[in-house]
Amino acid sequence: MSVKMKTLKVGMIGVGMGAGEIIPVFDTMPHIELVACADVNPAILAAFQDRYPAARTYNCAEALCKDAEVDAIWISTPNRFHAPQSILAAEHGKHVVVEKPMALDLAEAQQMVSAAKRNGVLLMAGHTQSYSLPIRAMRRIIASGALGRLQAVHLWTYSDWMLRPRTADELDPDQGGGVPYRQTPHQVDTVRLLGGGKLRSVRGTTGQWHPERPIPGYYSAYLEFDDGTPCTIMHNGYGYFVTEELVPWSKGYIRYNAQERVAVRRAQVAGERDEESEKQSMRIGGKDQTRVFSEWFGGKHWSPVDLGLVVVSCERGDIRHSKNGLFIYDNDGVHEVDLAADLSVGQRRSELDEFYDAVVNGKPLFHDGAWGLATLEVGLAITQSGRERREIMLNHQVEVAPDYDKDLPVPYLDKA
Ligand SMILES: NC(=O)c1ccc[n+]([C@@H]2O[C@H](COP(=O)([O-])OP(=O)(O)OC[C@H]3O[C@@H](n4cnc5c(N)ncnc54)[C@H](O)[C@@H]3O)[C@@H](O)[C@H]2O)c1
Repeated sequence: MSVKMKTLKVGMIGVGMGAGEIIPVFDTMPHIELVACADVNPAILAAFQDRYPAARTYNCAEALCKDAEVDAIWISTPNRFHAPQSILAAEHGKHVVVEKPMALDLAEAQQMVSAAKRNGVLLMAGHTQSYSLPIRAMRRIIASGALGRLQAVHLWTYSDWMLRPRTADELDPDQGGGVPYRQTPHQVDTVRLLGGGKLRSVRGTTGQWHPERPIPGYYSAYLEFDDGTPCTIMHNGYGYFVTEELVPWSKGYIRYNAQERVAVRRAQVAGERDEESEKQSMRIGGKDQTRVFSEWFGGKHWSPVDLGLVVVSCERGDIRHSKNGLFIYDNDGVHEVDLAADLSVGQRRSELDEFYDAVVNGKPLFHDGAWGLATLEVGLAITQSGRERREIMLNHQVEVAPDYDKDLPVPYLDKA
C-alpha cells in the first residue's frame, strides 16, 4: 500500500530564466506543488497561469507572501531582491529557498539568517550545481578515505555566459552583475562540499575585458582549505572556447552553437541586440523557452555546462566525471561509477528533496543560510583579492555536516 506524502505548497517569486531551470524538476515531484507565483511582468504571469491553471498569480512579492496556502517561497528574482524578499517571506512565516548568489554582501546575508531564525523558518541557499549527483558521489568517495587523504581540487569552466541576453540589472556590478557574482556560487559550493566546507584563504582575480559588457566575465582563484589542501577554480564566460567542446558526447555548446556565438558577438559589439526581447523569448511561454525550460539542458549525460571540469586528487587516486557518472583512477586501474539512471532531472531533485525533508519531516537542512553565507564570502573575497592584489583570510566558513548524504549509494564504495 502506498503512503501518501504530505504536499509542500510552494510559491515562486520571479519566474525568469533561472526559474525555468527548476520548474520542470518541480513537475516531477508530486509531493511538492507550485501553487502560486509573483512577478512584475504580466506576460510571465499569464504563461505561468497557462502552465498551472489552478495556481494563483500576483504582481508583487508581498501579496504572495500573504497567501495563506503557501508553505514555502522559492526566490528567483534579480540579485538585489534576494535579501529583502527572503526577509519579507520569513516575516510572513514562510520557509525560503533563495537562488544564488544568496545576497549582494555579507551584511545582507547575515540579516537573512537572522530573519529566518527570528521567525522560526528554514532558509536554504539553493540551486547551485553542487547538488548534482556526480559531485555528491565524489564527496562520499573522498570522505570515505578509500583513496587516502584529499590532496587537491581543480575546477575549470569556459562558457558562453557573457553572450547570453542580460537585463539592465545584470549589467550592473553593484547589483550582482557578472561572472564572479553569478558563477562562484556553483564552483565554490562544489569545492567546499568536496573539501569539507572550510576554506582558509583566497587569492583571486577578476577580468572585465569587453567594453560592450560593463561587468566582469572572468575570474580565477587559488583557494586554500583549513588543512592546507590546495584548490583552483576559474570561469571564463566570454564564449570563444567552451569546455563543452572537450566532451565528445555533448553538443559542443551550451546556449549557443559556434555560429550563433559569432552572430551574437557581432551584434553585441555593434550595439544591435534587443536583449530584453531575446531574454523574454527564453522565459516561460517564450518561443525559445526550450533553451532553458527543459529538464536539463545538458541532456541525459553529464557535460561540463556552467560548472565545468572537476578533477579531484587524493593520495592514491583521482576522480573526475564520466559520461554516465564518475571515473575513479586508483591503484588497480580505472573504474566507472554509473549514475546514469538519475543523471538527468534526478540530480536537481536532491535539492528539493533536502528542502522537503527539512520542512515536512524535520530532517536537518544542510545548505542553510550559514552555508550560503560562507560560499558568498569566498566569491566576494575573489573580487576583493583581485582589487587589492593580496590574499584574503576568511572568517565565516562552516563545515559540511558529517551525516550529509550518508545514505547515498555509491557502487565503488559498496564494492570496496
Ligand atoms: N541556479 C542557476 O543555475 C541559475 C540560472 C539562471 C539564473 N539564476 C538566478 O536567478 C535570478 C534571476 O535571473 P534570471 O536569469 O532568471 O533573470 P530573469 O530576468 O529572467 O528573471 C527574473 C524574474 O524576476 C521578475 N522580477 C523582477 N523584479 C521583481 C520583483 N520586484 N518582484 C517580483 N518579480 C520580479 C522579472 O520580471 C523576471 O521574470 C538571479 O539571481 C540568477 O542568479 C540562477
